Amino acid sequence: MTLGKIIATEETPTPTKVHFVTDKDLVDKDQYIKFNSPQGKVIGRVEDLHKTNRYFDSPESITQIEKTGMEVTDKFPTEEWEHTVGEVKALGIYRENKIERPTKPPAPGTEVKEPKEEVLRNFLGLEEQGNGLEIGELQHHGITSELSLTDLFQKHLAVLAQTGAGKTYTVSVLMEELLERQPEEGRLASLVIDVHGEYKSLAQSEKYKNRVKVVNGKEFRIPVNSLSASDFKKFIPGMRKPQERELSSAIEKLRYRDKPYGIEDIIKMISKDDEIHEEVQRVLPRWLERISGDLFSKTGSSVEKLMNPGQLTVLDLSDLIESKKRGMITSYIAERLFNARRKEEVPPFVLFVEEAHNFAKEGVEKEANIPKGIIETIAREGRKFGASICLVSQRPMKLSTTALSQCNTQLIMRITNPNDLDHITKTSEGIDEKSRDSITTLRVGEALLLGEAVNHPIFLNIRERRTKEAELGEGLEEQARKFEQQKKEKQEDAEAFI
Ligand SMILES: Nc1ncnc2c1ncn2[C@@H]1O[C@H](COP(=O)(O)OP(=O)(O)OP(=O)(O)O)[C@@H](O)[C@H]1O
Ligand SMILES: [Mg+2]
Repeated sequence: MTLGKIIATEETPTPTKVHFVTDKDLVDKDQYIKFNSPQGKVIGRVEDLHKTNRYFDSPESITQIEKTGMEVTDKFPTEEWEHTVGEVKALGIYRENKIERPTKPPAPGTEVKEPKEEVLRNFLGLEEQGNGLEIGELQHHGITSELSLTDLFQKHLAVLAQTGAGKTYTVSVLMEELLERQPEEGRLASLVIDVHGEYKSLAQSEKYKNRVKVVNGKEFRIPVNSLSASDFKKFIPGMRKPQERELSSAIEKLRYRDKPYGIEDIIKMISKDDEIHEEVQRVLPRWLERISGDLFSKTGSSVEKLMNPGQLTVLDLSDLIESKKRGMITSYIAERLFNARRKEEVPPFVLFVEEAHNFAKEGVEKEANIPKGIIETIAREGRKFGASICLVSQRPMKLSTTALSQCNTQLIMRITNPNDLDHITKTSEGIDEKSRDSITTLRVGEALLLGEAVNHPIFLNIRERRTKEAELGEGLEEQARKFEQQKKEKQEDAEAFI
């Protein structure tokens, strides 16, 4: 369909910037268009739209006419003179599945048209239907958008947006897509660090329940025999070299016995060894006691067994209130997975981390934020081994820049906080001034996708979920009613007792 014609303005057309005129409301901002240039078929994006009307461009004449008691619209055919001018950024020349940079301007008068679906899909780097992960529709074109597994996850993904913009919803859509995959398509194993217990609902769906396993964080146990002294050091940041050495030798002795052992056995071993320096003997057991609690056990839970192709493990941390414990579990799991993947003991995987800014904090020492080190390591080195990470956060400013900058694909939903916007614009090359403005106006369920997964940044409407969302907690009304009711009952009981 023809949308309009390229016009000559003082500055345009240039090889990369073009204005065109259209007399109907056919075009939307951020829509893609095509036109011919001496080099071939050029695809561009409408960056902005302006309406003009000659009859209204002089404030004096409008005032004068209206002073006579007449409307401009009565006197002149104003409607016929209204037209829209679109500002286009030429993105590239599309030729035989190859994209080239435009270096010559098109001729004024050239027709501006809507590109064909297949051309646009190829140009933007979207997969053919049925080949990739279906995440939503390309805005203004209604084209189903599928992305290849490699492009989306191999170099890691960040999902960033302010609270309530739809991050968890979108991640659930991605999980559904991962769960749908067939062996011949290549299936990843997935695990989500589920801070609010929102992903359990995937396990309740008839369709996916056999492929989703929920692990209660409160029941998760770290097997003591799997930890070396340097693993303990991550949990006990104050530990010094001499203490680590003694711990290491105690662990070695216990391992030699070839029997399951717990932290209490390590403590006993250290306490009764006369050769250990007095100071070490005093401090080390105290530290070990402090972390022991119910998080560790002799046998523990196996992380590797949870990882199966095409399956998802939901690690539900919602009942675990202590943030240090959450950090310890997350760190342990991420470390185990990464090492197991390097030895090819588990399938290629993606680790989803909700509230990632709490697990990899910017500006905080690694010692004070236990999982930060391993999250940054996976972000830096994971792609060589098929270990991917997806960081989800509503506080991008507080998220480790090292980790965030390694997420080569970013899915950004509504953000209005200027500091967060600045931060994202700085860490991501693909965001220009115009896309930045668009991010503030996105509605719930709309996203800007940029980076490795696409050839150019695109705006998407995230598709509807196939599974139900987690039930929201009770409303405030219900909570307040319950509180008063219980109070009244207690009072009545007390009175009856008297
Ligand atoms: N694509 C969508 N289509 C329809 N509804 C959506 C979509 N995305 C999100 N929503 C709705 O918006 C609400 C907020 O979504 P969601 O919980 O995913 O936000 P969030 O970004 O994860 O928020 P928080 O930062 O609080 O975790 C939900 O109730 C959800 O139903
Ligand atoms: Mg959420």
